[in-house]
Amino acid sequence: PLENMVDMLAKAKDGKYAVAQLNINNLEWTQAVLEAAQAENSPVILGVSEGAGKYMGGPEVVAAMVKALVENMNITVPVALHLDHGSSFESAKRAIDAGYTSVMIDGSHHPIDDNVAMTKQVVEYAHERGASVEGEVGTVGGTEDGVTAGINYADKEECKRIVDEAGVDALAAALGSVHGPYSGEPVLGFDEMKEISEYTGAPLVLHGGSGIPEEQVKKAIERGHAKINVNTELQIVFTAAVRENLNNDDKVYDPRKVLAPGKAAIVETARETLRMFGSSNKA
Ligand code: G3H
Ligand code: ZN
Repeated sequence: PLENMVDMLAKAKDGKYAVAQLNINNLEWTQAVLEAAQAENSPVILGVSEGAGKYMGGPEVVAAMVKALVENMNITVPVALHLDHGSSFESAKRAIDAGYTSVMIDGSHHPIDDNVAMTKQVVEYAHERGASVEGEVGTVGGTEDGVTAGINYADKEECKRIVDEAGVDALAAALGSVHGPYSGEPVLGFDEMKEISEYTGAPLVLHGGSGIPEEQVKKAIERGHAKINVNTELQIVFTAAVRENLNNDDKVYDPRKVLAPGKAAIVETARETLRMFGSSNKA
């Protein structure tokens, strides 16, 4: 069923595993991620960036599609529908009004006082309606949805303010991770993770999950991460499979057949990811 992230993240933090946020882009993507979660008996968070939401026709379309798929596919594992990197109160409000069960408000590009204020406003609106909220402090490197940023480590006191004053349910504390592919091995602030996790008590969220080696994923989970976001990796495997299909078959034109290998690749990679994060059989 569709629910917010509070319960799933509390269980994950307790049980030392992470719930995956897998970002979706279209119908096939959503079917593939739901199929993978059900097959692994795992909770899952469907991440929708503002850009992907717009691409699919707006948050109202996304919410209607997800609700109907959860029902028609007989999905029994916990599923959250989450706005990824919401940029304003209006954007978060529209997602919640449409039926998203969770939102991220990313005020990390604003001064901390503004970040706390806008995050608090979203938390008040969301909590009254049963939705959960993720906030961000520090900046994740790389580019996502056209937004490019340098790496800026989260400040411990600022993290504490977003958790205590704004009241978020999950905290994205940027500590060296990058959106999009890593050039070389990721260099993450593992000491800071532990410190911020203990100081704030909030479940931590790791952005830029694509391409982080398993051993670093495990260390991040041990140090307080209960949610890890993966977007780019699914895009890469989807496109590679579709490209191979088209290269191998110059007669195919039915879009369902064109996209089928891409969908299968997402199911496979999503299942591997859920297993790597330790959430299989935790539904
Ligand atoms: O918010 C989404 C994630 O941080 C995705 O990062 O595309 O590098 O996997 P990624
Ligand atoms: Zn992100």
